[in-house]
Amino acid sequence: MLTWVDGHPQDAVPVADRGLQYGDGLFETVLIDRGQALAWDLHLARLRRGCRALRLPEPPIAALEADRDGLCALGPAQAVLKIILTAGGAGRGYARPQPPTWRRILSLAPAPEWPLAEYRDGIRVRWCRQLWFPDPALAGIKHLNRLTQVRARAEWDDPQIAEGLIRDADGSVVGGTMSNLFVVRDGALLTPGLRHCGVAGTMRARVMAAAAAQGLPVRETALSVMDCLQADELFVCNAVRGIRPIRQLGARSFAAGPVTRALQREIGPPWPAPGHGAGW
Ligand SMILES: Cc1ncc(COP(=O)(O)O)c(C=O)c1O
Repeated sequence: MLTWVDGHPQDAVPVADRGLQYGDGLFETVLIDRGQALAWDLHLARLRRGCRALRLPEPPIAALEADRDGLCALGPAQAVLKIILTAGGAGRGYARPQPPTWRRILSLAPAPEWPLAEYRDGIRVRWCRQLWFPDPALAGIKHLNRLTQVRARAEWDDPQIAEGLIRDADGSVVGGTMSNLFVVRDGALLTPGLRHCGVAGTMRARVMAAAAAQGLPVRETALSVMDCLQADELFVCNAVRGIRPIRQLGARSFAAGPVTRALQREIGPPWPAPGHGAGW
């Protein structure tokens, strides 16, 4: 893995960094496909929203893009770029130094495998016991405090289970530990609204736009466990793994259906999709 800190090859940051001390910062995980950052504008838009939510200045876009280009020129053409933007040096306790300084930590790792079977047949998903508690001010953004997902992901070590779904204290489903959830019911596409908690994914935005372009009704709404179990189709998505149908949720089995297939086809490569992949 290649890592740069503030534009220089380095893989350590000062102990006083506010990202380490307080989780004071944001991150993005960007897929690099044939050397190009996919959905870059959506990642920047979420970073900007995150800065506003954390009362930080505008993100240093030009420096981030220079880092991105420099790192991508050195790494594999298919890669995952992780961008961590912290509020820099310590200040006094929780009070930030004024004006805050940024620290940019970028790392580039090879892209994961995308096994055909996960895209064609689907993945196994479980329910997590860990709940996602509301914090509307931080809902949707990708800040550095991710203990809800860390705790949820620690609930299983069965490699056959690819994802876990997290609910809020009212029993509404928020999403996966690392992905957003979509339910297909009666020809409409439904996804949790994420006004109280959760991460509003860049792939979620792409999927909603693709569905709307196909004339599919799309609604953000509260989804219960029963809504999921009674779904015609279910899938999860994120920027690195694209759209993967759920073939098993707890004890219930599902078949990947036509809406999921059409959206996989529309979002297209680099992930396996009907008509795009060998043997599919
Ligand atoms: C909790 C959670 N929800 C959703 C997502 C999907 O976001 P994106 O589509 O930008 O990868 C992620 C990504 O890591 C996540 O951690």
